Amino acid sequence: MPAVVVLGAQWGDEGKGKATDQLGASTDYVVKFNGGNNAGHTVVVGDEKYALHLLPSGILTPGVTPIIGNGVVVDLEVLFHELANLSARGVDVSRLRISANAHVIPSYNRTMDRVVERFLGKRQIGTTGRGIGPTYADKMNRVGIRIQDLFDSSILRQKVEGALLQKNALLVKVYNRREADVEAVTAELLSYADRVRPMLIDCSLELNNALDAGKTVVFEAGQATMLDVDHGTYPFVTSSSCTAGGACTGSGVGPTRLDRIVGVAKAYITRVGEGPFPTELFDEDGDRIREVGGEYGTTTGRPRRCGWYDAVVARYASRINGLTDLVITKLDVLTGFERIPVCVAYEVDGVRHDEMPYDQSAIHHATPVYEYLDGWTEDISRARTFEELPVNAQRYLEYLEAVSGSRISSVGVGPEREQTIVRVPLL
Ligand code: GDP
Ligand code: IMO
Ligand code: MG
Repeated sequence: MPAVVVLGAQWGDEGKGKATDQLGASTDYVVKFNGGNNAGHTVVVGDEKYALHLLPSGILTPGVTPIIGNGVVVDLEVLFHELANLSARGVDVSRLRISANAHVIPSYNRTMDRVVERFLGKRQIGTTGRGIGPTYADKMNRVGIRIQDLFDSSILRQKVEGALLQKNALLVKVYNRREADVEAVTAELLSYADRVRPMLIDCSLELNNALDAGKTVVFEAGQATMLDVDHGTYPFVTSSSCTAGGACTGSGVGPTRLDRIVGVAKAYITRVGEGPFPTELFDEDGDRIREVGGEYGTTTGRPRRCGWYDAVVARYASRINGLTDLVITKLDVLTGFERIPVCVAYEVDGVRHDEMPYDQSAIHHATPVYEYLDGWTEDISRARTFEELPVNAQRYLEYLEAVSGSRISSVGVGPEREQTIVRVPLL
């Protein structure tokens, strides 16, 4: 019966893919409810490593129905490419279902994303260049193209024409680019229609019926709380709702039906792209976390910015999402640090902030107030219970729990499925 949301409690790449994958065997549905192929989830199953971008992590578990919800933006070329790749590796992808209301990312929005970033120069967001922002902007602007529009060529053509009216003027007159051709864009989108049609569903109806029938549904977020378009470090955010409310609007399931809201956080913190990051490290500690933690983007390969655990961010994520549980990942990466700082508050112009400041320039100028915990040197990658962890690792986790505002239900000690300590089962 449970409906469980798994979301990022930091700036992304917390290990949501692994957390969702682990729930896989006891789950009937895994729904991606926001974002698109800007996400990058690495999931390790035995000797196999999968990098998923657009597809929900549930695709890897036999018997699970993976769903792309209405809140997602779908690049159809990427969709079929990812499906073909997984299929070639023996994964059964036939169960994938897609909301008829999901928007597509037309090729002109990939162009837009890149030219706008270049145009912004020093003020760029550092997007993944996948057309995510322009496609959500079109959706809000009511000139977006939904998957269901692919089945009537004349309506599709009209909609593409409508969208390109303004966009072509911008491309040519402001950005000095060639205009996008209505016929070519329409033809490209139409070329996917027959293949995508059998996958389409009414996402809301399917999921509500499933919950009525006592099935288990996991809602998997892309990106994270601090990248949420409303609650993140705006404007250095993505363009979707990555927080718990997004699970409802992005799938058509009401908030009263959600049972657990699980936040995933690393035992430290990372960020990709531009924007404020109070605990960012610019020294050898940061380099060490990046190397040991393999902190390079799954989607763009960019080195991730690394920093110490930020409990202000964690408490904020707890509050914004109403977290019931926290999953701490990558504790193993901190092995060998003699002392581990944890940011418990910010200082801004001599004033202490225990809660996330609401004004952007305060976040930009925040310096962390640290508490220091003793580290451990023992290899923890084989620990499977809390008690098997060195006492200082236990203390570190207990401290994180005390300052983060949620109970820690599970702890990752390595990338593999079984490298996990479960304190409270999530399902
Ligand atoms: P996501 O976007 O939140 O799904 O996270 P990513 O896949 O982008 O980044 C998380 C990375 O950490 C992946 O390469 C995972 O295989 C890896 N990972 C997840 N949990 C753990 C853990 O507990 N320890 C270690 N060492 N790696 C982990
Ligand atoms: P997962 O799901 C980390 C960041 C980009 C950029 C900003 C906006 O793997 O955690 P966009 O292309 O979305 O318009 O870029 O958001 N970003 C991510 N950072 N993990 C992600 O996804 C991200 N998806 C987008 O780097 O700063
Ligand atoms: Mg990622």
